[in-house]
Amino acid sequence: MRQAHLGYESRVNLGSYYTPPEIVETAWKMIAPYLRSQTTVIDSACGYGDFLKNRGQTITIGCDIDETAIGIARENSDKVRFFETNALHNVSRAKFGIPEQSYLIVVGNPPYNDKTSLIRQSIKRVDFDIDDDLACRDLGISFLRSYNKLRADLVCVLHPLSYLIKPTNFKLLKDFTANYRLIEGLLISSWEFPESAKHTPFPIVLALYERDTQGMAYNSIRSFRFRIDGQNDFCLSDFDYIAGYVDKYPKKPPTSDYTLFSSVVEGTHHPEKDDRLFFWTLRDINALKRNRTFVENHSANTIVIDKRKLDYYAYIDVFKRNLHRLPFYFGNCDVLIDDNLFRQYKSAFISDTVNHHPFLKRHFQIEPIEKQQAASGLDMYFKLLFGEHHL
Ligand SMILES: C[S@@+](CC[C@H](N)C(=O)[O-])C[C@H]1O[C@@H](n2cnc3c(N)ncnc32)[C@H](O)[C@@H]1O
Repeated sequence: MRQAHLGYESRVNLGSYYTPPEIVETAWKMIAPYLRSQTTVIDSACGYGDFLKNRGQTITIGCDIDETAIGIARENSDKVRFFETNALHNVSRAKFGIPEQSYLIVVGNPPYNDKTSLIRQSIKRVDFDIDDDLACRDLGISFLRSYNKLRADLVCVLHPLSYLIKPTNFKLLKDFTANYRLIEGLLISSWEFPESAKHTPFPIVLALYERDTQGMAYNSIRSFRFRIDGQNDFCLSDFDYIAGYVDKYPKKPPTSDYTLFSSVVEGTHHPEKDDRLFFWTLRDINALKRNRTFVENHSANTIVIDKRKLDYYAYIDVFKRNLHRLPFYFGNCDVLIDDNLFRQYKSAFISDTVNHHPFLKRHFQIEPIEKQQAASGLDMYFKLLFGEHHL
């Protein structure tokens, strides 16, 4: 059912973006081989209860902090034990009456709401208690940790792909990743969720985890082959990334005189003439979509370009203009690169950059080539780089 009772602000704060029925069905197909007798199924952020299907399990539990949602869920189902409560406080099996010996499956689409991200910052607040060992800047990460606290045997939930592929997020999931192994991952665009369709799409994974005392290391995520509906699969380690070639973030100043410091570090400090070049801080591909590349002035968000790496900054600038060639699931990745191929097509890249930023011309050794020739060179490069993923 489409979420219908909350206004914009509450929807953001509770992360109430309900799941389309086709995705719920796909989740149940993933779970089916693991269903056994004495199984308990819980969705601890169940909304209207759409994930709570009866597929032969012994006990079905739905929980939500939202009173109205639980009221509607109760009307939709009579065989489910419902709890109107905060699923992140005093978490234990006993809280939900789950037998200690029961095989426990968690299903659902827990809220993700990063309190520190700038998007919709002004209205964000979390006003419920969270157990100390679950507390985190992102509610979704707290929910994943709560499944470990419940000692779930199988977890089949939706969450942003960034939880797995961004090393800083992966570290936040330490207690979870120490006890679970990813066994299946289907990538879904946030555009599949009607309320999210207005923003740049980001990748969501419908993930199936099995409890495993070996846990999983970040490297296993890098080599994991994620499924994409009706297409080839996607694996991080199939590509090389720009992080190995440029500085992504500004260097930290040891003194307050940052401007002077960074130009000295970069070897570009000329007191008589400021010849420095600046580039906007690099995060992931979706951030590159929103941000600029070369900028004129220095700020806390700019990198002072090490001119020995200028070709690679030109590369990123051109890459940004070619993002329409990439599908949604690259949104949280770094800029991709094939360095050998880039060297072959470099003149096309430099020409394109100089065309868009004429002030850069005198910084490059390579003679620019004809616009048309550059365009076909770039077309060839990106088709070869993205391969089957090229849109
Ligand atoms: C993304 S919606 C998912 C709803 C439903 N499972 C679905 O997929 O259609 C997230 C739900 O989490 C609930 N929620 C948010 N914080 C919660 C908390 N601390 N405890 C329990 N439920 C919470 C919201 O009220 C919302 O219904």
